[in-house]
Amino acid sequence: MSLKLEKAHKYEKEEKQKIPAEEKPVFHVTPPIGWMNDPNGFSFYNGEIHLFYQYHPYTRDWGPMHWGHCVSKDMVSWEMLPAAMAPDQEYDAFGCFSGSAIEADGKHALMYTGVSKKTLPDGTTQERQNQCLAYGDGRVYEKFSGNPVITGEMMPKGCSRIDFRDPKIWKEDGKYYLIVGNKNDDQRGQVVLFSGKTPESWEFETVLAENSTGEIGTMWECPDFFGMDGKHFLICSPQDMKAQKYEFHNGNNAVFFVGEYDKETHVFKKEAPKSLDYGFDFYAPQTTELPDGRRIMIAWMQNWDTLAYRRNESKWFAQMSLPREVSVKNGRLYQVPVRELDSMRANKVEYRDVVIKDTRITLDQIEGRTVDLELVIRPVDKDKLYKKFELCFAENEKYHSTLRFRPDESVLKIDRSFSGSERAVVHQRECLVNGDCNELKLRVILDRFSAEIFINDGEQVMSAVILTEQDAKGISFAVNGAVRIDVVKYDLA
Ligand code: FRU
Repeated sequence: MSLKLEKAHKYEKEEKQKIPAEEKPVFHVTPPIGWMNDPNGFSFYNGEIHLFYQYHPYTRDWGPMHWGHCVSKDMVSWEMLPAAMAPDQEYDAFGCFSGSAIEADGKHALMYTGVSKKTLPDGTTQERQNQCLAYGDGRVYEKFSGNPVITGEMMPKGCSRIDFRDPKIWKEDGKYYLIVGNKNDDQRGQVVLFSGKTPESWEFETVLAENSTGEIGTMWECPDFFGMDGKHFLICSPQDMKAQKYEFHNGNNAVFFVGEYDKETHVFKKEAPKSLDYGFDFYAPQTTELPDGRRIMIAWMQNWDTLAYRRNESKWFAQMSLPREVSVKNGRLYQVPVRELDSMRANKVEYRDVVIKDTRITLDQIEGRTVDLELVIRPVDKDKLYKKFELCFAENEKYHSTLRFRPDESVLKIDRSFSGSERAVVHQRECLVNGDCNELKLRVILDRFSAEIFINDGEQVMSAVILTEQDAKGISFAVNGAVRIDVVKYDLA
């Protein structure tokens, strides 16, 4: 083991004990200590679900990237393991950036981006991002002696050698494939495809997809690609996108394209992109397929532009989203919390047909900060829409966060302005809800420092970090007009 990795192990072992369990979410992944960003190497290997992540143990800020590591059987309780990789080689001295994992000939193969610096003929230095490989047994990982296995020089002219990162590997018909995020000379994001007989030797295939309209961002980070229900889905996180109506409000966005993929010619015909999440905090998602056939997606529940909204005193920073099962319905990508979360449900409280008219109410035993709340909201009178419905949570005299629905516009707004923030970062987001305004279904998952809102059975999702003090645990319902609601609440323990 390198000195750098040994140092990280020692540091995380000593420091993580200093963080009281109550300071962390209950079932969302957080780093043991220090900084975390993208999920990496999300994969099933040797009977366990592995999740790695971009990790800088020594500070709560981004720094030379390590790969943190944890494992789970159920994706709700995670065993945090020692860091898997440190930036300890010449080819990754400036960071082990994002990547993915697969089982290859019985071994756990990690593909990641090694960041190094190259001295140019004029004496200046320029960053280089190349794709590297490490093998392991689920606990200990060793970098491949032939690294890097893919360099930027393998791509045609016009593809950036500097922004070339985040390999996602898969196997199909006995061959390995790998896509990498990239951009072209016109500063437009794209995804490039490679193939190989083994994870050690690769050939460039094609530019699989690109920002052909010029409106889909510069660098495309963290791509993912999979087939489901006869369609193919390309996920990526384009940087520097402008908002378009209700889509793409996060600057750096997580989007998906649905399309048709020709496996022989490697041509992907894609439709226009859509946001994967309409909240503030969802970036660099990665999916994996479990042995039971489910495709699960997990993301960094954070946004690069709102890092200032953080708890100053804590020694760790950032959370992953809930792992979400994705499926296709009517050509749309649906997301729901993995069903394993249901096993944490306790203390069911249920109300049916509660009529609320021009007032705010609370319901006995409906409160908490680690809860699973299911809500169905209908107008009392079908022909008479109510004006506005409001759900407040993480609420006391001082704080509250709100979900507000206006059925005439079909817009659901999340507002965390009063969640205890001391910073001028964005605190409101709107989602144009696709469904029928005569029935809005919400599932709200709260876990101490976050809220994830699954709209109409997961057709759309809004994710938000909420740093409100834990004793603000009230939940209330308010209406302008008249609604009839069903409420089912579980504690998640
Ligand atoms: C996305 C990202 C990746 C990169 C990693 C570095 O959040 O910028 O493109 O590999 O973070 O930590």
